[in-house]
Amino acid sequence: MRARDWDRVASDYFTEVVSPLAAGLPRPLVHALDAVPDARRKTAADLGCGIGTLLPALAARFGRVLGIDFSPAMLARARANCRAGNVALHRADLADLRAFHGRVDVAITVNAVLTPDPDRLDRVFAELAATLRPSGVLLGIFPAMEAILYQGLLIHERERRRSTPERARAKTSAILEQAKYDFVHGTYREAETAQKFFYAFELEYRLRRAGFRHIRLGRVLYPWETVGGYESFPAEPPMWDWLVRATRPAASRAGLRPALRAVDASRPGRRRRRPRAARV
Ligand SMILES: C[S@@+](CC[C@H](N)C(=O)[O-])C[C@H]1O[C@@H](n2cnc3c(N)ncnc32)[C@H](O)[C@@H]1O
Repeated sequence: MRARDWDRVASDYFTEVVSPLAAGLPRPLVHALDAVPDARRKTAADLGCGIGTLLPALAARFGRVLGIDFSPAMLARARANCRAGNVALHRADLADLRAFHGRVDVAITVNAVLTPDPDRLDRVFAELAATLRPSGVLLGIFPAMEAILYQGLLIHERERRRSTPERARAKTSAILEQAKYDFVHGTYREAETAQKFFYAFELEYRLRRAGFRHIRLGRVLYPWETVGGYESFPAEPPMWDWLVRATRPAASRAGLRPALRAVDASRPGRRRRRPRAARV
C-alpha cells in the first residue's frame, strides 16, 4: 500500500486494521521493552508508527522517541495521540531512513513492513539495521504466513466433519480466499493492493542478510474474539504475528557490511551528507 492508501485508513484505524495493539500492548512486547537496560538514556524509534498507539508507552520509558511514518494522515493522528515532549514525529519512507542512520538504540516496528516488492523489502530491512547504533536492538512485529496456513487447517478440519472430501477442500479454499494468497512469495492480494506475510525462516534469512545477529522469534497472539471478520475457533490455540528481537552487531565493520552495502548500492561512489529529517 502507498502512503495515500494508508491516509484513507487513518480516520477509522482499528475498524480497518487487525492490530496486535487493539487491546493494549501485547505482553511479549512489554517484556521485551522492560528488558532494555538504561532506557531513560536511550533513543527509541517507532518505524511505521501509524496513529501513534505505541508512542505514549515509549515516551514513558525512553529518553527520546522518534515516530516515523510516510502517511501524513497517520502522523496527524499520532501527533494528537501523543503530545509528550520527548517525542518527535517525522515523515519518511522506511526504504530511505538516511536521516536517522546510527541514531537509534531500540527500533520498534509493528506491522509496518508490508511491501510485497522484494527489492523494496531488501532496502527496508537494510534501513532498519542502519538506523541502529552498534549493539542496538530491533523489536519487530510481522504478519505470520504460518498463521494463515494454520487457520486453513482448522477450517479444513471443520469442513471435513461437515461434508465430502471434495466439498471440504473446495470450501476451505473459498473461505480462506486461497486465490488471493501467494504462498511462495508470502503475499495477499486484493484488487490493487498487496500485503506481505512472513514465514519464520524467511524473517531469519532477511534479518541475517541485513546484518542482524542474535535473532530470536516469538509470537504475539490474537485472541479469537479480536480477529474480526476471520473464521474463529475459540477452542483452539489462537493465531499470531511474529515478534522478532534482533541485534545490530557491535562496531565490527565486517559485521555491518551487508546492511550498509544494500543501502549504499543505489549511490555508488558518492559521499553522502547526512540529510536533515523533515519534522512534522
Ligand atoms: C498496519 S499500520 C501499523 C501502525 C502501527 N505500527 C500500529 O501497529 O498501530 C502500518 C503503518 O506503516 C506505515 N507504513 C507502511 N509502509 C511504510 C513505509 N514504507 N514507510 C513509512 N511508513 C510505512 C503506514 O503508513 C501505516 O501507518
